[in-house]
Amino acid sequence: MSTEGATAVAERPAGSDQPLLAVEGVTVRFGGVVAVDNVSMSVPSGQVRGLIGPNGAGKTTLFDSITGVNTPAAGSIQLEGADITDRPATWRARQGIRRTFQRQQPFGWLSVADNVLSALEWEGGGGGIAADLVGWPARRRIEARRRQRVGEVLELCGLTDISDTPAGELPIARARMVELGRAIVSRPKLLLLDEPTSGIEHDEADQLGEIIQTIRSEDQCSVLLVEHDVAFVMAQCDLITVLNLGQVIGEGSPEEVRNNSAVRDAYLG
Ligand SMILES: Nc1ncnc2c1ncn2[C@@H]1O[C@H](COP(=O)(O)OP(=O)(O)O)[C@@H](O)[C@H]1O
Ligand SMILES: [Mg+2]
Repeated sequence: MSTEGATAVAERPAGSDQPLLAVEGVTVRFGGVVAVDNVSMSVPSGQVRGLIGPNGAGKTTLFDSITGVNTPAAGSIQLEGADITDRPATWRARQGIRRTFQRQQPFGWLSVADNVLSALEWEGGGGGIAADLVGWPARRRIEARRRQRVGEVLELCGLTDISDTPAGELPIARARMVELGRAIVSRPKLLLLDEPTSGIEHDEADQLGEIIQTIRSEDQCSVLLVEHDVAFVMAQCDLITVLNLGQVIGEGSPEEVRNNSAVRDAYLG
């Protein structure tokens, strides 16, 4: 796959051990509730990292901090070594941080293809309405490239045969795939997935796993995966961080996490 486009993955120097994303001492409070409590973790470039823990552990709140939806009371968030803690959500999205939500939310009235197209950043082309009317070749080339990229994503997500269907008519698993397509179409550097397998069947989860591994290997996309299906997380992730009551209670390979007694007590049971 080519890496051209507005959010193409930047080449990083070989041997660089700087993580793509670093969360350092992040605390988020809602009134008296400490939802995220002094959490530090990182996501290396091109890795799939898991974030697990019981309901209310602070996983979604941490996603909100990383994407810029909330502002931590303490701590910092760095992308490729640059502090982005005070940057707005739109800016972070342009830098290549994308997410899916716990509850899927494609635009119901738009077709599947237009849902994905509308998530693709406009690369420019200039000329406004005049250019549209004259049909400048440069404009047509950009448009063709955008359509081609959308086609690739629909294929990857198994949506080609329903590309003209309004997204609002889809069953939950397909709608989730549309949301995933919207999240990956501009080739993000970092993809945050919030419980992507909830409400979908086993074979659909297998397909999701294949997509995660494809974007990791072909686009060097890093993935942070929040997921309740522990078998799925363990199959997908190089390293897993475990949260409980806002705090990190364990971190390690799937094997290490499975054998961690604090994690077993709090979560794995
Ligand atoms: N907007 C909010 N206002 C008040 N409390 C919140 C808000 N969002 C989350 N919380 C609280 O923060 C804690 C962590 O929630 P959340 O991040 O959704 O956990 P998880 O995603 O791990 O289930 C919970 O106690 C939750 O009730
Ligand atoms: Mg959550």
